[in-house]
Amino acid sequence: MTIDLYCVMGNPVAHSRSPWIHARFAELTGQTLIYDTRLIALDGFASGVRAFAAEGGRGCNVTVPFKLDAARLADRISERAALAGAANVLCFQDGLITGDNTDGAGLVSDLHHGAGFDLRARHLLLIGAGGAAAGVLGPLLRERPASITVANRTLARASELVERHAALATQQQAELVAQSLRNLHGNFDLVINATSTSLSDAGVPVAGSTLRAGALAYDMMYGAPAQGFLDWARENGASARDGLGMLVGQAAVAFGIWRGVLPPEQQVLGELRAFMQGAA
Ligand code: ATR
Repeated sequence: MTIDLYCVMGNPVAHSRSPWIHARFAELTGQTLIYDTRLIALDGFASGVRAFAAEGGRGCNVTVPFKLDAARLADRISERAALAGAANVLCFQDGLITGDNTDGAGLVSDLHHGAGFDLRARHLLLIGAGGAAAGVLGPLLRERPASITVANRTLARASELVERHAALATQQQAELVAQSLRNLHGNFDLVINATSTSLSDAGVPVAGSTLRAGALAYDMMYGAPAQGFLDWARENGASARDGLGMLVGQAAVAFGIWRGVLPPEQQVLGELRAFMQGAA
């Protein structure tokens, strides 16, 4: 019997929690598979994917910095990945590569089930306009918030992202606007940090006044890099949540696409949190 092969491709990738998460999903759903990490050369994404498929790989996750390449490489792409312009999941079947993006579904699931936050009719601030922000904007709009403000250091990138999602925003009756971080105004029920500032220790890129009373502040990072943002949120009276639940959530949707069965996401998130706290 051949065992189905999966992996996460990235650079760097050694610290990825995805092998742990997928091994646990497989155990809890009675699936037999192998999931490992592949460090891919920065100029070698397409050949890395093809080599893995040729070895019998059934699919892979894609992480920094290859999500845009993954969307371009796919022969077929889901609507949400096309809108994001980025893919974090690839499936190999009948010689074809299919791309999808489950990051937004992971975030929305964690906001609902992990944070108990209802997005409907709320005012959202999405900080950043890179691949991480692009991956979640469509799924956030589909939850019918009252508004989403996309704020970025480089206003042109935020404007481009907003323009690309304008039709969906209209359809969902959500107001969607772009702002520059330098002149950001307004306050919000939910502030999501989708920039890389937590990784580079650059500090929180918005003022505490962006947080309404009772707001939730969410960083897509987790572990030590997210700590500064979480402290900032609490110091400013907000609830705070890191991106570990989004990580497990996007993995659960990917696992469902590959294996046709949804794993117990909340159980695995609880176990991973306990494991990471024990290891800290
Ligand atoms: P990713 O795929 O992780 O989103 P990216 O495409 O490089 O990575 O995007 C990084 C995001 O973090 C961008 O929104 C970037 O702002 P610019 O578009 O202006 O570059 C944002 N970012 C990075 N460092 C920042 C900083 N010090 N202050 C504010 N925003 C920052």
